[in-house]
Amino acid sequence: MTTQPSQTLWTALDQYIEQHLIEPQAILEQTLHNTQQLGFSNHLAVAPNQGMFLKMLIQMNRCQRVLELGTFAGYSTLWLAQALPKNGYLLTIEGRDSHAQLAQQNIQQAQLPVQIDVRHGRGCDILQELITQQCQAFDFIFVDADKQSYPEYLELSLQLSHSGTVIVLDNVIRAGDILDENNQKPSITGIRTMYQRLQQHPQILSCTALQTVGVKGHDGLAIAIVK
Ligand code: DHB
Ligand code: MG
Repeated sequence: MTTQPSQTLWTALDQYIEQHLIEPQAILEQTLHNTQQLGFSNHLAVAPNQGMFLKMLIQMNRCQRVLELGTFAGYSTLWLAQALPKNGYLLTIEGRDSHAQLAQQNIQQAQLPVQIDVRHGRGCDILQELITQQCQAFDFIFVDADKQSYPEYLELSLQLSHSGTVIVLDNVIRAGDILDENNQKPSITGIRTMYQRLQQHPQILSCTALQTVGVKGHDGLAIAIVK
C-alpha cells in the first residue's frame, strides 16, 4: 500500500468510527494479536468497520449459509459467522496451507456457536467440487482471495447461488491501479475482467462497486445480487 497524504486522516477517522460504533470484542482482538504474534501481517484482514458492514449485510438478508473465499487468519470469517443463527453454516476456503492452519487455530479459539469449516486448497477446484456434488446454495458469498482469479470465482460463485444470494468482492479499486493501463499485473487484470463480467451478466439482478478509504488505504468492494 502506498502512503497517501490523507492516510493519517483516514486512519484517524476509522479509529473514531471504531471507538464510537464498534463494541470491542475479545475474540476479534485475540485473533489479530495471535496472528501478529505468529509473524503474520494483518494488512490482509478487513478493518473492524468493514467487518461490521459485512455482518450487517448477512443480518439484513437473514442468511444462514455463508461462503468465504480467502480466509487468511479468519478475522473476517469471525465477523461473518457472528451474523449467523445457531443453525447457520459457514464454509471458508484458503489456498495457503500456513494461512489455513492459522485460521483454524483462531477460529477454534473463538468458540462461536456456529459450524465453521475451513478448507485448504485451490479455490476454483474446491468450488468446482462443490458444484459437482450439488452442494446446497449459499445465501451470502464473500470473495477475498487471490485477485487474479476473481473472474472465475464470480462465475463459480454464481453456480453456488440462488435467487437473492448476495455476492461481495473485496479489493476492487486498489488505490486506482485498475485505471492504470500500464499496470498489467494478473491481480489487476483479474479485477478488470471481473468488472467486465459483472456488466450485464445474465445471472445478476443488480450490482455496483463502492470506493472506500480508511485504515486499509483506498480500495473498495463490489456487491451483486443474484437474479
Ligand atoms: C491484499 C489483499 C486483500 O484481500 C486485502 O484486503 C488487502 C491487501 C493484498 O494482497 O495485498
Ligand atoms: Mg481483502
